[in-house]
Amino acid sequence: MALTITPLTAHTGIEATGLDFAQPIDPADQTVLRRAFVEHHVLVVRDQHFAPDQFTAAAQLFGEIQPHDKKERHVPGHPGVDYVSNDQIENGRRIIPGETFHTDHSNHPSPPKATMLFAVELPSRGGDTQYVNMHDAYDDLPADTKQRIDGLKAVHVYQSKYSPRPLSQISDDSRRKLPPPGIHPLVRTHPENGRKALFLNPVRMESIIGMEDNAALALIEELMRHATQKKYEYRHKWRHGDWVLWDNRSVMHQANPDYDMKERRYLYRLMLKGETPV
Ligand code: SIN
Repeated sequence: MALTITPLTAHTGIEATGLDFAQPIDPADQTVLRRAFVEHHVLVVRDQHFAPDQFTAAAQLFGEIQPHDKKERHVPGHPGVDYVSNDQIENGRRIIPGETFHTDHSNHPSPPKATMLFAVELPSRGGDTQYVNMHDAYDDLPADTKQRIDGLKAVHVYQSKYSPRPLSQISDDSRRKLPPPGIHPLVRTHPENGRKALFLNPVRMESIIGMEDNAALALIEELMRHATQKKYEYRHKWRHGDWVLWDNRSVMHQANPDYDMKERRYLYRLMLKGETPV
């Protein structure tokens, strides 16, 4: 079957059909997919049938695997493959990984360029993932706001004292292996598509260098309110067999806990190494 590419919105998301990642992918198709990923930011491939090792092999078509900070959470028997699920309860509270808008592992000096999920078990309804386009959000900012944030840098730690949600516990061993905080510009330039993008993550942003915390929090809230408008969104409604790859340099994302928690939502997850944001 021939590879077909269909945009999912005018600004974000593309669906590829005619692919079976369990088979070798034609080099020309690989080039088309890599280009589509960089230009459309979210790449959706339907009807895949991955075992964990095949999921890893598909990821490696797009880059080098970036290990997750939490070494203790992985698919049983596959220490290199992480997962997200809705069945973790800590201190009487259910943990939904990725429940508010964020970009992944921005506490790293070189955060992952991309993340991917593969839907293994899904609730009968809900549990969508929302993506917002941070290039368009940046482009639409008023000129005086662009000027105000130009050159500002934020300190990203594992979990900010201002995080809107708790993260699940991390073992002492994983915590010891955390990198030093990432110090990143609020506006970064995508190294492959050349576009500027807002780079925000309220879960991890501890401070903005040279600003009082109250002023920094107000600025982050203003930028988040702007960036999370529906006009910047692609909302992915999961189907069994969906494989979704997104560009953390171009989008923020969030998981929706809007389904019956008696149903399981379980997806394999991997990230790809990225560059230092500039
Ligand atoms: C995440 O990677 O933040 C989780 C997204 C999701 O489960 O939809």
